Amino acid sequence: MRLSTFLPILAASLATAAPLEQRDTVEDYNAPPGGDVTILNYALTLEYLERKFYMEGLANYTQADFVAAGFADPFYDNLKEIYYDEQACFTLAGALGTAAVHEATYSFPSTDVKSFLALSSVLEGVGVSAYLGAAAEIVTGAYLTVAGSILTVESRHSSYIRAALKESPFPKPFDTPLDFNQVFSLAAQFITSFAPGDPALPFKAFPALTIQPSQYPYTAGSSPVTFTHAMKNAVSAGLIKADTPVYAVFFSGLDTYYVKVRTTSGNSGDFKIDMIPAGGNGQLAPTGQVYVVLSTADGTTTKVSDENTISGVGILEVNPVGQRDGVF
Ligand SMILES: *[C@@H]1O[C@H](CO)[C@@H](O)[C@H](O)[C@H]1NC(C)=O
Repeated sequence: MRLSTFLPILAASLATAAPLEQRDTVEDYNAPPGGDVTILNYALTLEYLERKFYMEGLANYTQADFVAAGFADPFYDNLKEIYYDEQACFTLAGALGTAAVHEATYSFPSTDVKSFLALSSVLEGVGVSAYLGAAAEIVTGAYLTVAGSILTVESRHSSYIRAALKESPFPKPFDTPLDFNQVFSLAAQFITSFAPGDPALPFKAFPALTIQPSQYPYTAGSSPVTFTHAMKNAVSAGLIKADTPVYAVFFSGLDTYYVKVRTTSGNSGDFKIDMIPAGGNGQLAPTGQVYVVLSTADGTTTKVSDENTISGVGILEVNPVGQRDGVF
């Protein structure tokens, strides 16, 4: 059922319930040019990336390396299973036929088992967010079923890796949808070049956001965050003036949080916030794999959108208030 058909029914059944908070950036989830074909190629691009990542990881690090790093058997075998699951790309490529994009070339920053697994956790989480964000715009029912069946497996991978890293396997009652450009911005960091001759996906990457010092994990309601050179970069790119108000906009589950940034002393051109929001006022605490962009939207007069995003997407692992180590 299309969302437009479903909404009146939903509205009727919610008439007596509390108003459902909608994600702010609804228009950014609209179907891209090319519709389902573009969305499937977008999914295929992510599947190729993940497949290559596990292929390299399994080649670079042995079973003994994982055991030595504290990931006892059958962890390595389960990683191999994840790699096999990423062959879902062939199903997508098959559905697309000659319209399918090809594998790009990639570069992953991992250098050992620990950094490989940290990135694995991030990529699985981004996979979940990507399929979730795209779902509402898939028109063909059969494709939605395929995408949904990949999404649920991605979320199992995510939970498994998160639990192995002693992070909460399912930190929040809702996962976090990301829009096409947000996911593209994250994926583009690992893509060194697209396959020659492939049609370019109609998405753009935002200017990259650097979070320093990188901390793991952060705590909702207390950790400060510095966005290194973010003001200097946005001013020199002509995206803002030095006195333009800028907000760090966090996404976690279906909640969106706005925190006004301040500049730091000295001439580093950083933006800073004194603490990650704690939730409250009807919002759950940001928890788990949390995303952040910098935007000129304040959340009241203007909502965050691709058009007013000046940098992103950053990723932080966040523990909720009062929870020390992410283990429930
Ligand atoms: C695997 O090792 C190669 C060579 O050192 C490196 O370039 C690549 O980034 C590594 N990939 C992963 C996923 O660890």
